[in-house]
Amino acid sequence: MKTLVLFYTFSGKTGVVSKALGEYLKAEVVEVRDRKGRKGFSGMLSLMKAAGADAPVETDPETVDLSGYDRIFLGSPNWGSRPPAPVNSFIAKNNFSGRELTLFIVQHAFGARRVVDNITKRIEEKGGSVGACFHINTFLRSKKRIYGNTIKKVKEITGGE
Ligand SMILES: Cc1cc2nc3c(=O)[nH]c(=O)nc-3n(C[C@H](O)[C@H](O)[C@H](O)COP(=O)(O)O)c2cc1C
Repeated sequence: MKTLVLFYTFSGKTGVVSKALGEYLKAEVVEVRDRKGRKGFSGMLSLMKAAGADAPVETDPETVDLSGYDRIFLGSPNWGSRPPAPVNSFIAKNNFSGRELTLFIVQHAFGARRVVDNITKRIEEKGGSVGACFHINTFLRSKKRIYGNTIKKVKEITGGE
């Protein structure tokens, strides 16, 4: 089965989760970056402002051809119970027609459900749907623990393939 893991990360944790998924599922992993490469506190504020206004930001890549994949995972950090602006912009630019995605939310500790609902609405507006979803908590957890927790979670979701 050909699997794609798409993700955005601001501070790296969603990248750790995506790496674990990619290695376990032998998937292709594609990072969706903020084209402006915003970093630090001012970068975060700028991205939060864009998300609050639902304003587009440029991403790299902007689009991905999803047609060659049997299974697609999409990962997003939780920013105030919402996805960050690059996730919104990437979804808006892509065609999810007829595709069912697995969502994973990476967060300190709370609010994943609302992020899932928010992203689900956006995916549905682009013709797709959301099947399984899960979240990974990162607060006070090492990269090693985040990696290990992701492997446990993906085993549950896939029935240990
Ligand atoms: C602006 C902002 C808002 C956040 N809001 C939440 C939140 O509502 N709930 C939560 O559990 N974590 C929240 N977090 C923490 C992030 O979700 C957490 O650090 C996550 O691991 C970041 O993923 P990343 O390293 O891939 O960017 C927030 C972080 C930022 C920067």
